[in-house]
Amino acid sequence: MDERAIVLEVPELSCETFRLRQWRIEDAPDLAEAWKDPQILSDSVVPEKRSLGDARKWISRTDVRRRAGVALDLVVADCDDDSLLGEVSLYRFDKSRRAALISWWLAESARGDGIATRAVNMLAEWALAGPLTAVIAEIKETNVKSLALAQRCGFDLLRPAGDSTPAAFVRRAGDPKGRAS
Ligand SMILES: CC(C)(COP(=O)(O)OP(=O)(O)OC[C@H]1O[C@@H](n2cnc3c(N)ncnc32)[C@H](O)[C@@H]1OP(=O)(O)O)[C@@H](O)C(=O)NCCC(=O)NCCS
Repeated sequence: MDERAIVLEVPELSCETFRLRQWRIEDAPDLAEAWKDPQILSDSVVPEKRSLGDARKWISRTDVRRRAGVALDLVVADCDDDSLLGEVSLYRFDKSRRAALISWWLAESARGDGIATRAVNMLAEWALAGPLTAVIAEIKETNVKSLALAQRCGFDLLRPAGDSTPAAFVRRAGDPKGRAS
């Protein structure tokens, strides 16, 4: 294993509506559908290859990526039937700064109810109470839903957007909690 990696354990995090869990191969059809969503395609990072087979392959590598300190990718799963509502991830770990990027998306049917806000807040609070001192979100200026979400979760502007770069927002350990908590 890379000595420089930050390897995160899978947290046990849940609320009355959803829980965060590891990916399962059965999630592949929902993931492949999500990769067709225009908002997810334009505003988050998706792989170049996005077939059902590619979704299965991507899922089969998630725990390898976690153990290698590359990413912690978690499903936001419905508490009632465990179905996929969305995803929250920590990735691009910087061990010297104990920092990482955070990203999120929701399936279209799960939007508009505060689920992403609560899931992002939950993961950020867990990470900042433990292995990380800063969590950073890179958000396009046009992504108004994510800008509002970051504000609700207590992220502050770190770097404004440039001509070809998204704005960066940071939440640090010890910062006042966001309105989502
Ligand atoms: C970004 C994204 C997850 C936001 O979805 P969302 O449904 O707006 O986010 P939330 O689940 O937090 O819901 C917020 C909405 O629920 C409402 N809401 C209801 N109860 C709420 C609660 N308890 N807490 C927070 N918001 C609540 C909010 O007012 C807001 O409503 P609005 O959309 O009318 O303003 C979604 O647009 C998406 O998947 N986009 C594509 C991927 C993407 O942009 N990723 C970000 C990469 S950085």
